[in-house]
Amino acid sequence: MQLSVVILAAGQGKRMNSDLPKVLQPLAGQPLLQHVIHTARALAPAHIYVVYGHGGAQVQSALSHEPVEWVLQAEQLGTGHAVMQAMCVIPDDHTVLVLYGDVPLIRAPSLQGLLASAEAGALAVLTVELDDAAGYGRIVRGADGRVSAIVEHRDANADQLRIREANSGVLAAPAGRLREWLLGLGRNNTQREYFLTDVVAGAVTAGYCVDSIKTARSSEVLGVNDKIQLAQVEALYRRERAEELMLAGATLADPARIDIRGDVQVGRDVYIDINAVLIGTVRLAAGVKIGPNCMIINSQIEAGTEVFANSIIDHAVVAENCRIGPFARVRPDTVLHHDVHIGNFVEIKGSEIGAGSKVNHLSYVGDAQVGSSVNVGAGSVTCNYDGHNKWPTIIEDRAFIGSGSMLVAPVRIGAGATIGAGSTITHNAPDAELTLTRAKQTTVAGWTRPEKQNVDAKAATIDAALTPPKK
Ligand code: UD1
Ligand code: CA
Repeated sequence: MQLSVVILAAGQGKRMNSDLPKVLQPLAGQPLLQHVIHTARALAPAHIYVVYGHGGAQVQSALSHEPVEWVLQAEQLGTGHAVMQAMCVIPDDHTVLVLYGDVPLIRAPSLQGLLASAEAGALAVLTVELDDAAGYGRIVRGADGRVSAIVEHRDANADQLRIREANSGVLAAPAGRLREWLLGLGRNNTQREYFLTDVVAGAVTAGYCVDSIKTARSSEVLGVNDKIQLAQVEALYRRERAEELMLAGATLADPARIDIRGDVQVGRDVYIDINAVLIGTVRLAAGVKIGPNCMIINSQIEAGTEVFANSIIDHAVVAENCRIGPFARVRPDTVLHHDVHIGNFVEIKGSEIGAGSKVNHLSYVGDAQVGSSVNVGAGSVTCNYDGHNKWPTIIEDRAFIGSGSMLVAPVRIGAGATIGAGSTITHNAPDAELTLTRAKQTTVAGWTRPEKQNVDAKAATIDAALTPPKK
């Protein structure tokens, strides 16, 4: 049976006190609504309808890349009214699943039972047992134990308020029947709204089966209404992702101090120290070690590589047994072959570095093609930018770049070439030879260091030095 998912996202989210619509508030760096759409997509539905209202244009543009259909609910007349807006375009023979833009932790496996019930013709509601169900609709059951109605907190009597089984809001039903029950909704409640929850009573009256499925993980149905709940959901999300990594074989120094914002896969015996931030698609192969305070973005790191404290690796591919950092920055479009060492305060951008090469201290290598077994000495720079254009540098196998060298691109350093320390290289350096530039060293005989001047003498010196010459 074909599935249509309806995601309710028209609410304003007043309690966020934010210019950003509630469903765009970030969870793990992505809008809340994005997470819900992601879950919906995992169910392979025929259509995903997002019912929007407040902040419509902003919400649509933030999620314009998603394959969803947007349905406007111009006036927020209740959850039942919101679902009704989408029903006009959903065929009778579909199954409808209702999700919420502000309930982001729901996962596809928890929805399978609900969908199976709905496909068998029932109205299926997802419920949750809560110690404190204040604010939630309560699941009311008849003498036979079956669900007979959902009563909103504000409309509940004293007996009903004692019920701890709460309505998560998530439900599924055959589209044709849901439409009939929705058409039967009234606004006979304290909020004068069309309540989606009232379809339960409608189904019971019409003699249809109402199934309830209690979720085992109450966190999955947590709603986000304010920044406190947003932080709680973020912590739960972080914990879940951390547990996935640990189950896959990673050792985490502290599962509460890792941020996983994307799709991260780890091999066996990966070790991740505190405060790692992993963003986008990240692959850490077996035995990779990540030191404290590292950020890894859309990168792949092969087995045995070690990244030391405070390093950033962004859109890079790193092969086996490399050593990176501490305090290294590996920028986009960088490829490091095996056994490469990138040391402290080194920045690499858009470069390929061959096996066994070392750039260990205080260097910038940009737009460079570096061969294998190359040594780039401390403080060397590929001068790749002339103010308008970026130019490439080629350093061939086994070259040795002396400390403090400026390689002015475009330039080629030949295989096995040696560049003398402190050289400014503007022409290609031949293979296997020593190339260097030298200013002549001089010693000024009898020179003495300046003495400390008083305030007035110092001011006079500055005036004399900085006054422009008269023409
Ligand atoms: C709803 C349920 C309640 C359940 C609770 C779970 C109803 C009547 N009540 O209550 O049983 O326990 O969720 O969190 O359904 N929305 C629209 N358009 C509207 C109204 C709401 O899109 O006209 C969206 C809101 O943006 C929100 C969601 O629907 O994402 C729920 O609406 P809200 O008013 O928060 O319902 P609750 O009172 O929390
Ligand atoms: Ca709510």
